Amino acid sequence: MYNDLKGKNVLVTGGSKGIGRAISLGFADEDARVISISRNIPEDTDNRITYYNCDVSNNNDVKNTIENIISEFGSINILVNNAGIEEYASLDKTGEDMWDRIMDTNVKGIYNVSKYCMPVMLKNHSGNIVNVSSVQADIITKNAAAYVTSKHAVIGLTKSIALDYAPEIRCNAVLPATIDTPLVRKAAILEVGNNEEKISQKIREWGLQHPMGRIGKPEEVANTVLFLASGQSSFITGASIMVDGGLSIKAPISTPRN
Ligand SMILES: NC(=O)c1ccc[n+]([C@@H]2O[C@H](COP(=O)([O-])OP(=O)(O)OC[C@H]3O[C@@H](n4cnc5c(N)ncnc54)[C@H](O)[C@@H]3O)[C@@H](O)[C@H]2O)c1
Repeated sequence: MYNDLKGKNVLVTGGSKGIGRAISLGFADEDARVISISRNIPEDTDNRITYYNCDVSNNNDVKNTIENIISEFGSINILVNNAGIEEYASLDKTGEDMWDRIMDTNVKGIYNVSKYCMPVMLKNHSGNIVNVSSVQADIITKNAAAYVTSKHAVIGLTKSIALDYAPEIRCNAVLPATIDTPLVRKAAILEVGNNEEKISQKIREWGLQHPMGRIGKPEEVANTVLFLASGQSSFITGASIMVDGGLSIKAPISTPRN
């Protein structure tokens, strides 16, 4: 438990499922007041969380939603920019619509939400922002040009926010590798089709590429986000924290002795 998260107003984008859901539940367990905004309200809502329907890529939608949140909750202390999408193509196969969709959600979405949360954080002289990037901001897979670009951009924006608003507002990024969420299941289905056994096999294969021997759990990303949002990380800002089971340290070639 982090004593200082209790009673804080925490806004989580993309809180309806996957990593965002785990982050929302993690803050709720700390007795924070959690507000989730996502494209869809989930069926399995938690009564400790307030859900808003909002498209983070739509500036006007975000502006109105955050105005409503501030008038209902008074303030936002912690913002977790987690909403994101992934689609797969190399540059020549990336249509303008795909490029715009990914950049508008993964990058402009963070700009939109952070921008409208900033006045209240500046008024409070305190705030904490955690952005969910990806290990793909460091090591990358083929055929994900727009996604890889978007996740690199998140690091740039994280550093800019950290520098421009220190010391009152801290901003950090988490960089997950493969995490067991609907997004990763969708990626597995694209590779092996809609066959439960083949999907599990593909996910196990991906897991074995991580030195930890498995893919990550959404709660493992959530735990890192909670740490960064808490006072326990008080001298960390502008940082990129890997949550990748060691994936990014592993060279793809082996030495003669192993
Ligand atoms: N799962 C992984 O392996 C993995 C790895 C690295 C990074 N990430 C990143 O973590 C974040 C969460 O991924 P996930 O795996 O939980 O995905 P997911 O598809 O399971 O959930 C995504 C969430 O984002 C919301 N969302 C998407 N577009 C939105 C929009 N325009 N407006 C509002 N909400 C929107 C969805 O409603 C949903 O709540 C993403 O930014 C993703 O890029 C995931």
